[in-house]
Amino acid sequence: MPTNDTSRVKPERRRLVEILLGGGLIASVISFVYPILRYLVPPPVADLGGDEVVACKKGDLKPNSSKIFRFGNRPALLLLTAEGEYRALSATCTHLSCTVQYRNDLHQIWCACHNGLYDMNGRNVAGPPPRPLEVFQVNLRGDDVVVRRKQGA
Ligand code: FES
Repeated sequence: MPTNDTSRVKPERRRLVEILLGGGLIASVISFVYPILRYLVPPPVADLGGDEVVACKKGDLKPNSSKIFRFGNRPALLLLTAEGEYRALSATCTHLSCTVQYRNDLHQIWCACHNGLYDMNGRNVAGPPPRPLEVFQVNLRGDDVVVRRKQGA
């Protein structure tokens, strides 16, 4: 005749079940709490809002070429014109914030999202962009090409 006496369960098996249940409960609590903590305390982001950054080394760019670099938390565009002059602009399109690129065949800055065009000075010249791109100051400091936000901008 079967009995339902729990005192007959071996103590080792009971202990194993308790450990498994406790571990599962702890894992569940962590999986709920961790995302909330990450939301409330986001990880530090380096160089947010910096006013100056080394975009590249002198000689990294060929004339009539460009590179995208990170300026604060946004992309920026560094151009070396065919005449050897550096220019730096925001790479965020003023229409709907796509990242623009330099078209060395057109000598213009192009936004692929809606075919927006800017001239080499960042002025919006065709397509939907409503405003010019922000222009940054470029200085050479030793071998570094340093881009900085214009004062008062
Ligand atoms: S987002 Fe650049 S043209 Fe629309």
